Amino acid sequence: MRDRQVQDILDWYDRHARDLPWRVGPSARAAGVRPDPYRVWLSEVMLQQTTVAAVKAYFERFTTLWPTVTDLARAEDGMVMGEWAGLGYYARARNLLKCARVVADEHGGRFPETREGLQALPGIGPYTAAAISAIAFDEPEVVVDGNVERVMARLFDIRTPMPAAKPEMKAAAAEMTPNHRPGCYAQAVMDLGATICTPRSPACGICPWREPCLARTAGIQAELPVKAPK
Ligand code: ADE
Repeated sequence: MRDRQVQDILDWYDRHARDLPWRVGPSARAAGVRPDPYRVWLSEVMLQQTTVAAVKAYFERFTTLWPTVTDLARAEDGMVMGEWAGLGYYARARNLLKCARVVADEHGGRFPETREGLQALPGIGPYTAAAISAIAFDEPEVVVDGNVERVMARLFDIRTPMPAAKPEMKAAAAEMTPNHRPGCYAQAVMDLGATICTPRSPACGICPWREPCLARTAGIQAELPVKAPK
């Protein structure tokens, strides 16, 4: 059951993965291209409170100015803050620089590969650590953001209101996370949540999980996840 669903979303991702500037797409990945952990980290920090559409140009600008974590570590604070302007949440930019300097000075310019090692760095919380570990290092980490919660709520018909439903959603996400291609799987669920399993009017007709989706079977997919009671 689960293996079938994982295969179905990976097949869908192989055909429909979004082309994003920080992403190594499924065909390049299959050909052995590894994602650059610096680019994965930078994108995840930028995406923490900002949309993909808004992040793209900033990501291109940062990686042009500072192609490696060591380049960023050596940048002047004012220059980085200036380039961050518009992304908001300036604590993120300050932690970004702090993190780059720790990786450059204390880790020889290489990011730790484990969730625990990543989470010890400035500005990297549990979600970002899991995402980087999965995407950059293909570790079978459970990556759960708001999009993934919505997808899991629907696939497993979780009707518990938010935020009480979070542990159930995390358990569902953990149950689904595969050991094979976990990086592609994590990005596939993100893409599914962003393009098909959207908050309103999900495009169930073209969803790779339309058949196993329990909320769709019950006809209540648009009502999940249930918002916190007021
Ligand atoms: N949102 C958070 N991380 C993302 C990623 N790597 N790709 C697309 N959307 C995301």
